[in-house]
Amino acid sequence: MNRREFLKLTGMGAMTVFLSGCGLSALTGQEKNASGVAVHEKGEISGGKAMKIVVITSSPHPHDESTSIYLADRFTKGATQAGHEVFTFGAANSETHPCRGCDQCHMDGPCIWKDDIENALMPKMLEADLLVLTTPLYYFGMSAQLKTIIDRFYSRTGRLHGKKSILMATAYNRDDWTMSALVDHYDTLVRYMEWQDAGKVLGIGCGSRSLVEHSQFGDMAEQMGANL
Ligand SMILES: Cc1cc2nc3c(=O)[nH]c(=O)nc-3n(C[C@H](O)[C@H](O)[C@H](O)COP(=O)(O)O)c2cc1C
Repeated sequence: MNRREFLKLTGMGAMTVFLSGCGLSALTGQEKNASGVAVHEKGEISGGKAMKIVVITSSPHPHDESTSIYLADRFTKGATQAGHEVFTFGAANSETHPCRGCDQCHMDGPCIWKDDIENALMPKMLEADLLVLTTPLYYFGMSAQLKTIIDRFYSRTGRLHGKKSILMATAYNRDDWTMSALVDHYDTLVRYMEWQDAGKVLGIGCGSRSLVEHSQFGDMAEQMGANL
């Protein structure tokens, strides 16, 4: 795909205007049970093989205070115990730069930025089977730290096609629409990147570490990792 086709598909050529408690919500692109909990048969995602997994966290909160990193840690615990290899990238504490749109990569080459995304994260993402995108909900979307990473997919868009992915997020609000915009964006990204959605853990009503630790979302995240 060339740059013109990318711009057309992503709608960047159009003028677009954005006006823009503990609950329970976890979804997959496949089946949900009565509680909305992600349901996968064990081994359904991995086919019974050890997977290479990249977990991207994006909260600026300290590790032991962050609610979304708590979910990432619980997922990692389940996945590693199940024999998968996990590489974790903390976007908020790494040297990252936003895409400059210079197109020197031509969507298929090295990025002009020689930062932690290019040197540490991108090689791991390119060889990964599964990417786990983790974010606190910021104004009903993903954090800027995570969006910075995603925009940098541009330099290897085609090479990142075909992977599996998971979304994990935490939010203060508990309304059933809290994660709607984030999920729409993620689902669109999955479609464009030709990924397979392997599940979502959407921690509504989790605005503090204590709330998320006393919620069911940690168990869901760990089970999701264990059941890959
Ligand atoms: C800049 C900012 C924007 C936020 N926007 C929302 C929001 O739109 N909806 C919501 O429910 N919570 C919002 N929150 C609350 C966080 O999503 C919530 O506290 C989350 O648990 C933080 O996760 P973390 O500890 O992993 O960073 C916002 C917090 C910040 C700092």
